[in-house]
Amino acid sequence: MKATVERLPGLDEPFIKPLPEMAPAQFEQWVALLKQRTGMRLPDNRMSFLVTNLGMRMRALGITDFQAYYDYVTTGREGIVEWGRLVHHLTVHETRFLRHESVLALIVQHCLPASPADCPPEPLAIDVWSVGCSTGEEPYSVAMAIDDRMRQLGAPYFLGMMASDISRAALATGRMGLYSRQKMRDVGPRWLRNYFTETDDGRFQVSEELRKRVCFNHLNILQLDDAPIGKMNIILCLNLLIYFDREQRIQIANTLADHLQPGGMLILGVGELLNWEHPRMKRFPYANTLAFQHQ
Ligand SMILES: C[S@@+](CC[C@H](N)C(=O)[O-])C[C@H]1O[C@@H](n2cnc3c(N)ncnc32)[C@H](O)[C@@H]1O
Repeated sequence: MKATVERLPGLDEPFIKPLPEMAPAQFEQWVALLKQRTGMRLPDNRMSFLVTNLGMRMRALGITDFQAYYDYVTTGREGIVEWGRLVHHLTVHETRFLRHESVLALIVQHCLPASPADCPPEPLAIDVWSVGCSTGEEPYSVAMAIDDRMRQLGAPYFLGMMASDISRAALATGRMGLYSRQKMRDVGPRWLRNYFTETDDGRFQVSEELRKRVCFNHLNILQLDDAPIGKMNIILCLNLLIYFDREQRIQIANTLADHLQPGGMLILGVGELLNWEHPRMKRFPYANTLAFQHQ
């Protein structure tokens, strides 16, 4: 039995009331909702994960019955708002600065000018999209890598970095751009100096210049049809496709390919999409990456 918190009339302190067991049919119902709305497959052995995370929201609302909570989430305007909160608890947001160093190296070496002589006279426009950006460490890492390289080249440029995710809470953290010291462990001293300011409480604030370049947007990767997204030079979709089945992975990769400029690069997580073929995309071999270039 899982526990939930209720308040007894006349008592200030909450008491713990156990949640009922989740029936297999109820589990199936939640699994189907999750799959339909986020694309995520929840395997049978994740029932306790589901129960724990639903329980967190149910406790906050004082709901003690899984079915009542399901009905609440799937009905009316309040349900839409609650779904937005719940989805943050049911998705995995693990990320960190410089998590994908080989991806940054690929971008610096193959998506940017090789030398000052290769830089165009007018500012270079670079459009990047980080899909499933979580709390912002990935888009900021890419923005730093690009800025660092363009500074070395002494070339003016415009960076448009779109960072999207299904979790509004994760996006809010990204927008704030304020991270604990622990989160900075992989960021070297030069980048720390150039792109962060230490705050009085020992956290690190991403520089305003960098934050201005990253635009955080709420976007469900399964609902891109009407999203006003231009053509990108680089699209990153890392540690997201793993939550989808193969058919959806292919569909998503096809859609992302349509959002690339000719010559643009789609970078997926290593091993996240095997044997994908697309008429306009060619595998771009680079160590420890899974990249495809738009022809
Ligand atoms: C494990 S994180 C990956 C973060 C980052 N890309 C990295 O590799 O460090 C996966 C992110 O995908 C987001 N996500 C899950 N399903 C999604 C969907 N259907 N549409 C958009 N984002 C989704 C989650 O909210 C989560 O922040």
